[in-house]
Amino acid sequence: MRRLQFPRIVAAVIFTLVAGFLIFTEGAQSKTLATPSTGVSPQKPDNSACLSCHQREGITWPLPSGEVLPLTINPKGYDQSVHARLSCQVCHTNITGFPHPENTAKDRRDYTLQYQTTCNQCHPNQVKELADSVHTRLFQEGNRDAPICADCHNPHTQEVIEKTPDGLPAPSEHARIAQTCSTCHAAIYEEYLSSVHGSGIIENRNPDVPACTDCHGVHRITNPKTAAFRLSSPQLCAKCHTDETIMSKYGLSTQVLNTYVADFHGTTVVLFEKTDPDQETNKPVCYDCHGVHDIQRVDDPNKGIAIKENLLRTCQRCHPDASTNFPDSWLGHYIPSPDRHPLVYYVNLFYKIFIPTVLGGMAIFVASDIYYRVWGRKRRLRGKEASATPLPPREGGSAEANQPVESTPEAAPVQPADREDLAGDSLISSGEDVASQAEAGTDEVVSSDRTSDEE
Ligand code: HEC
Ligand code: HEC
Ligand code: HEC
Ligand code: HEC
Ligand code: HEC
Ligand code: HEC
Ligand code: HEC
Ligand code: HEC
Ligand code: HEC
Repeated sequence: MRRLQFPRIVAAVIFTLVAGFLIFTEGAQSKTLATPSTGVSPQKPDNSACLSCHQREGITWPLPSGEVLPLTINPKGYDQSVHARLSCQVCHTNITGFPHPENTAKDRRDYTLQYQTTCNQCHPNQVKELADSVHTRLFQEGNRDAPICADCHNPHTQEVIEKTPDGLPAPSEHARIAQTCSTCHAAIYEEYLSSVHGSGIIENRNPDVPACTDCHGVHRITNPKTAAFRLSSPQLCAKCHTDETIMSKYGLSTQVLNTYVADFHGTTVVLFEKTDPDQETNKPVCYDCHGVHDIQRVDDPNKGIAIKENLLRTCQRCHPDASTNFPDSWLGHYIPSPDRHPLVYYVNLFYKIFIPTVLGGMAIFVASDIYYRVWGRKRRLRGKEASATPLPPREGGSAEANQPVESTPEAAPVQPADREDLAGDSLISSGEDVASQAEAGTDEVVSSDRTSDEE
């Protein structure tokens, strides 16, 4: 009895002191609690008491479900982990010595879930992000296999995570990330490892290819089955596939987004994304044609979609009646050139020249016609004025009236054929000729003007 009471008194005293201290420093505390420094001692704590038993190899604890909980903690691994400076009890708050308090976990999963909030005290940002994720939503809907922190991070062996300057996991983490996700998504992991993106990620650690988290996010993983995800997915692929520095290493085209957006499928998808991002679309996005986790090189003989039979199968998913020639109705990602789709190229080229020429010619024709008619009317008006005040006879006319005709003798003969010509240039010159003569007020022009008006 007395042996039990002494620790209680000590505990009560410590509690009072700590509580007083906490109240006293309340303002300062609320800030520091948000950083991972909480509970981290400057020196490595002495965990040897716990490790004296737990470093033994092969020790386990049987659970009611028949599963066993391995109890071995490798001291070296712990010492090299990011949590090396934490005492075991920071997380195992219920365990102070041996024997341990009774643990009520029925199975392995039950046991892990006891630690669902353990990390909250030091990593509030990740906790917040995870709370918004599809994994947490699934968990709240009753799927207890959806991951919590400890599923993806072993707290006893977690190493430092390398990051890019903007705080995202560095490419050197790709292999580790894929393996983390593989513990629960093994089938997708296998597909990914055999794809152009995942192959070699374990051995070569290619930094350019996407890891699971590049497409899905790290903690705030969104539901990839939503319309919004689907509509925005071309941008996801474009992030790398329009990057010249990455794609030039592999000799891949960076026109894949442009050409997709320009075609009948992509135009709608991009429009929906801008105007109504939750709208379902039946038009294909990149992964409807290329696949998701099993993307292959386009010239892969079995699955590559540059091979016509493979492509046809892709089209037939949505165009069930598509026949062998159907894919030819589509340009792919190619920008038409004399080598690729020459027919389309030359038709385009023809229209590029033909349409401006025709429209330009029409414009010039109309303009000169208006010019010509306006002058014609002016002259006719003058003609009327002239008949009201009779013109002096031509021979004895004033020098002023006759002057322009004399000064531009070559303009005098007007060819009606000029005006009938549809070519713009000759129309302009004939128009000018007509104008200069109209100013001169010659009778020839008046008569020829009338004839053309009557036509
Ligand atoms: C004398 C050996 C011994 C010591 C010392 C010891 N443990 Fe254990 N530990 C065990 C055994 C045996 C089990 C199996 C379950 C049981 O018997 O309670 C276990 C189980 C555990 C478990 C898993 C079950 C549970 O209750 O969560 C944790 C966690 C644990 N120990 C942590 C610690 C920590 C932390 C310390 C140091 C404060 C520690 N142990 C000290 C022997 C020991
Ligand atoms: C950062 C928090 C944290 C620290 C520090 C920590 N643990 Fe754990 N420990 C956990 C979590 C979380 C689990 C549950 C993991 C699971 O179920 O997979 C766990 C589980 C265990 C288990 C059960 C078996 C297992 O591996 O799942 C033992 C034994 C254990 N810890 C011992 C220790 C010992 C000994 C130390 C100190 C050397 C320690 N832990 C330090 C968080 C921690
Ligand atoms: C008592 C505080 C504390 C607790 C509790 C704690 N951690 Fe940590 N954690 C730290 C510190 C300190 C670091 C190292 C500093 C840093 O890099 O952020 C760290 C680092 C990490 C890292 C690596 C971060 C990086 O950028 O390299 C991960 C992952 C991590 N912790 C996961 C967990 C998980 C999972 C839990 C819960 C099981 C947990 N931590 C509980 C303090 C804590
Ligand atoms: C679905 C798996 C998953 C879950 C659940 C998860 N993480 Fe992570 N976490 C990752 C991955 C993947 C990375 C990126 C780098 C790596 O592991 O190599 C990461 C990175 C981190 C980092 C480094 C800094 C950062 O934000 O990138 C910390 C700290 C961390 N996690 C803590 C946590 C904590 C705390 C929880 C629980 C609230 C948690 N994680 C839940 C997978 C997970
Ligand atoms: C502890 C197990 C576990 C781990 C680890 C895990 N997941 Fe999951 N994840 C699940 C479960 C369970 C579901 C529910 C659907 C299912 O069974 O596929 C799920 C669903 C998903 C979904 C789809 C959600 C939906 O609505 O269908 C995505 C995306 C996903 N996980 C990505 C990841 C990524 C990326 C990683 C690695 C960073 C990862 N998961 C790690 C268990 C896990
Ligand atoms: C190049 C981008 C990309 C990469 C890399 C990627 N995913 Fe996905 N993932 C997607 C897309 C896009 C979807 C949506 C597919 C759909 O709606 O059919 C998806 C769907 C999912 C789903 C839910 C649907 C399903 O098929 O069950 C899970 C789970 C998932 N991915 C996990 C992973 C894991 C684990 C990895 C890494 C091994 C990974 N993904 C790598 C793009 C990617
Ligand atoms: C993180 C950057 C990144 C993202 C995101 C990405 N890719 Fe890639 N992709 C690459 C790299 C790098 C290669 C070249 C890999 C190689 O050849 O080893 C590649 C190769 C390909 C190839 C094979 C081309 C060939 O014939 O060699 C296709 C097809 C492809 N990606 C489609 C997609 C699609 C579809 C998406 C979106 C769902 C996507 N990619 C997202 C980086 C990315
Ligand atoms: C995910 C489904 C899907 C896939 C895969 C798909 N298409 Fe389409 N495609 C559509 C939809 C939806 C339309 C619009 C039909 C409409 O408006 O009547 C369309 C329209 C077209 C049109 C315009 C003429 C028309 O029928 O309206 C052509 C040409 C076409 N697709 C060719 C292809 C080719 C070639 C492939 C294979 C490389 C392909 N499509 C793959 C869904 C798809
Ligand atoms: C309607 C089906 C379809 C859609 C949608 C589609 N592609 Fe393609 N993609 C193809 C075909 C077929 C090829 C091979 C022939 C070619 O290059 O046109 C190809 C080739 C590629 C290549 C290889 C280019 C090279 O230089 O060899 C990449 C990378 C690629 N696509 C990425 C994408 C991306 C990213 C998107 C979305 C923005 C996308 N694709 C949308 C069918 C499609």
